[in-house]
Amino acid sequence: MKVIVDTDAGIDDAIALLMTLAHPAAEVLAVTTVMGNVSLEQATHNTGVILDVAAAPDIPIFKGCARPLLQCVPPDAVSVHGADGLGGAGRPTTTRVPYSEPAGLALARLAREHPGQITLVTLGPLTNVALAIQLDADFLVNLGQLVIMGGSIDGRGNTTPAAEFNFLVDPEAAAFVFAACHRARIEAVLVSWETTLAHPIPLTSWDSLITGAAPVAQFVQQMTGHVKRTWRSSNVFWPDPLAVAVALAPEIIGEQERRLVAVEPARVASRGHTIVDYRFGPESAPNARLVRKVDGVKFQNLLQQAVQQGG
Ligand code: RIB
Ligand code: CA
Repeated sequence: MKVIVDTDAGIDDAIALLMTLAHPAAEVLAVTTVMGNVSLEQATHNTGVILDVAAAPDIPIFKGCARPLLQCVPPDAVSVHGADGLGGAGRPTTTRVPYSEPAGLALARLAREHPGQITLVTLGPLTNVALAIQLDADFLVNLGQLVIMGGSIDGRGNTTPAAEFNFLVDPEAAAFVFAACHRARIEAVLVSWETTLAHPIPLTSWDSLITGAAPVAQFVQQMTGHVKRTWRSSNVFWPDPLAVAVALAPEIIGEQERRLVAVEPARVASRGHTIVDYRFGPESAPNARLVRKVDGVKFQNLLQQAVQQGG
């Protein structure tokens, strides 16, 4: 399976990327970076660090958008992920240098070079994907599958009462991507915040899963330390790893539903809200498969495979 990961390189992104690197069936063609949890520069640096920690092969990194489509100042989530975005487990240097080709162009080119073969998993705001669609009208059709972590499909926002972080950072991009999927009759696979909440992992289970002296396990233990200090929950929630797990091992999906999804771009209280159309009719043709339930044991097995790689 040819995979591209688009990431804003926070703690859960790091675990998701480690999962992708550890999966025997995944051929990681590239990683594209985007602002979100941290700045574009930090997300790009963190991606290099994560690849270094995993002793990954020379996987191309392409820098994407430093700002949302229509906003001048990018937000961030350093309050959640720490100043370096990796809970203090980051490194000051990396051996990896991003390519000069912008991510939007690289995404469109790679999809055209490998028609119908690439699974693109997005772990941050959809700004790069929106640009790729604008740069190449066939981008979505050229992709094999688009798997998106984002959205609050039952109205349970995590950043505002209405909106999940990835969609709120760039609501215009999210609205554009789902409208383009609808036009192209493409169904993106959507792993939402509520689906993340439906799959908690007890901290005690997580601690036993990440033991070990190997560099990856140590790296995840250090990030977990930050999680324990700041998230103050008896469970851990892994949105980005859940999206990658669904992309790499769709057999773990237990319950999903095909729906028409839109995102509110207006500058109102519900900005970034995920609107799900539960009606039936030609105007409600689905553009998304909302994953509701996965096999929790298989999900944890994929996490263990990720964290214990190189051990
Ligand atoms: O709302 C969760 C999402 O926002 C995850 O992708 C997390 O990394 C942050 O980017
Ligand atoms: Ca993310």
